Amino acid sequence: MRTLALAAAALGLALSALPAAAQETPPLPRVFWSFEGPFGTIDQAAAQRGYQVYKQVCSACHSMTQFHFRDLAGIGYTPEQIAAIAASVQVPGPPNAQGQSSPVPGKPADAFPSPFPTQAAAEAAFNGAVPPDQSLMANAFEGGPTYIYAILNGFRNPPPGITVPPGRYYNIYFPGNLIAMPPPLHDGAVTYADGTPATVPQMAHDVATFLYFVANPHADQRKRIGVHVVLFLVFVTGLTYALKRKVWSDVEH
Ligand code: HEC
Repeated sequence: MRTLALAAAALGLALSALPAAAQETPPLPRVFWSFEGPFGTIDQAAAQRGYQVYKQVCSACHSMTQFHFRDLAGIGYTPEQIAAIAASVQVPGPPNAQGQSSPVPGKPADAFPSPFPTQAAAEAAFNGAVPPDQSLMANAFEGGPTYIYAILNGFRNPPPGITVPPGRYYNIYFPGNLIAMPPPLHDGAVTYADGTPATVPQMAHDVATFLYFVANPHADQRKRIGVHVVLFLVFVTGLTYALKRKVWSDVEH
């Protein structure tokens, strides 16, 4: 009985020591998104700035293999701009007789390639972690774009008593707090053509807007159709009611 009590006490101690190792993540911050709600639409200027952040920062580690250069038309890029963007990125070329391929400039129908030749190469670079593909990232995590925004703003010095192993970084929003991604943004990491100051929260908001568009390229169109359908139904209801009044108008009550 005594040993049991002792064991229970030891377990209690061990458990009470646990929270230091696995800290609770705080609730996600409240963030306003232009695309929220039934009438929300994607802010094209923000999405274009976000594309710039992806291209200049995130694409060094993250692929986007389901997003094609031509899809950039959805946030206002012209065919000429898209052709130029595609040509500026090296994509895997057609395989030769030995099955090897050398990189060639991209075409509008190509997707954003992985910067790592193989999964193993990515794992070797990040102590076993792999930068996930960003095509569907904005839908994959609970909180969606708000989670992406939070992670990018969530890097902190570790609290006293927590040791961060090499190749890991302390992030308050990452489950378990130790993330293999080095803080990718710092103030001024990009220079925006429209003069918007490139602070970390600004770039995080822009790139999360862009990644929302990447994962939901037809969201705006879907909502527009939805609004038209509702307006049409309201019109038909009114018409039906007027017709009913007309048909019954000669009948004595
Ligand atoms: C130097 C390489 C590098 C760069 C640059 C980089 N990432 Fe990452 N990212 C990683 C790695 C590695 C992981 C996997 C982390 C892990 O599992 O611990 C990751 C994971 C993530 C995650 C997932 C977190 C989770 O909960 O699993 C998000 C979101 C993310 N990155 C967003 C971005 C965005 C947005 C950018 C550009 C602003 C970016 N990353 C730039 C390496 C990078």
